[in-house]
Amino acid sequence: MKVLVTGGCGYIGSHTIVDLLQNGYEVICVDNNSRSGLSLLEGARSITGKDIPFHQADICDYEALRSVFSQYEIGGVIHFAAFKSVDESVKQPLLYFQNNLVSQINMLRCCTEFGIKNFVFSSSCSVYGNADVIPVTEETVLKVAESPYGRTKQIGEDMIHDIAKVSEASYILLRYFNPAGAHPSVVIGEVPFGRPSNLVPAITQFAAGKLPQLKVFGTDYDTRDGSCIRDFVHVSDIAHAHTLAMDYLVNNKNQSNCEIFNLGTGNGVTVLETIAAFESVTGKKLDYKLDDRRPGDVVAVYANNDKARNLLNWVPAYSLEDIMRTAWAWEMKL
Ligand code: NAD
Ligand code: WQD
Repeated sequence: MKVLVTGGCGYIGSHTIVDLLQNGYEVICVDNNSRSGLSLLEGARSITGKDIPFHQADICDYEALRSVFSQYEIGGVIHFAAFKSVDESVKQPLLYFQNNLVSQINMLRCCTEFGIKNFVFSSSCSVYGNADVIPVTEETVLKVAESPYGRTKQIGEDMIHDIAKVSEASYILLRYFNPAGAHPSVVIGEVPFGRPSNLVPAITQFAAGKLPQLKVFGTDYDTRDGSCIRDFVHVSDIAHAHTLAMDYLVNNKNQSNCEIFNLGTGNGVTVLETIAAFESVTGKKLDYKLDDRRPGDVVAVYANNDKARNLLNWVPAYSLEDIMRTAWAWEMKL
């Protein structure tokens, strides 16, 4: 079956393409390379030895997208393409509404027009906002999003819920927690766009001497060591969940035509513990600075992943140490 992957030149998309190809799917990739180059797609080709047809197109351009749909017999879609920087979205909300929402509307329009039956959407733990109770389950009530980026994911989910009510297609919304690390082959990994705001690339870039400083944002939170708690999950585990989600839809296992799954390990770790894991795996001591809280950060969020484990048979295979080991090997390669 052919799967159209949007944003396949990016971090999670490229890892997912590898996993799909290694599990019997064919892949067509669409990306406008606004936040990526071609190196990760080339890497996916080299890991799998498979052909990956690629269309460089802006999904906000409906006719360009329609032209891709018209060229293939597409069985399912995985929609990754979006801008993802929380900071940038705060500074340029309109850019995020325009890119993330228009692209998603166009995808949903094309899928309706071409009768696509299976749709997987990249959502995010950012939809939970500052949840009252953790770990969060898929039933946890969503709070106000902390950023325009998070709001695009909430609106994106809402659009799909509404469309699912009148559609014959089936939809899965995957809420990723904190994806990190690199493919174990170290042929592909994360290529941050600009200065990294995410913790793991900030750690590896600082350790490599690319970043002048590593700051720990907030050490007075009500957590076991005062720093925030997050749920880091290996990108290859996230990638494999997409293959399982597509299998689940194709085999009509879904219990409703719009289902949500949390993709986190369920292990909440603090920022300081995360840095310590890097130090222990690499033997490199990091001279980080304790700094003020970063505006907009939630104190603690991690996943209850029972639903993904039970229904998708998703079992995260990589530990925090594996994340650090592969992220560091990738940084060294870069
Ligand atoms: P990424 O920036 O590496 O990849 C996104 C890709 O989409 C890029 O290659 C970019 O060029 C492409 N793209 C963006 N707008 C496009 C458009 N209009 N037309 C065509 N291509 C376009 O990001 P990622 O980390 O791989 O994230 C993939 C998805 O997962 C995004 O939807 C993101 O919001 C979501 N997500 C990411 C994280 C994370 O921490 N990485 C966490 C939760 C959710
Ligand atoms: C993690 C923790 C920082 C950098 C974001 C998005 C979320 C999802 C994942 C897309 C926080 C601290 C960070 C640094 C630090 N993405 N930190 N020093 O904020 O949990 O989630 O990425 O959907 O939507 O909001 O991830 O990696 O930025 O931060 O102390 O240099 O590390 O304050 O506590 P976050 P993060």
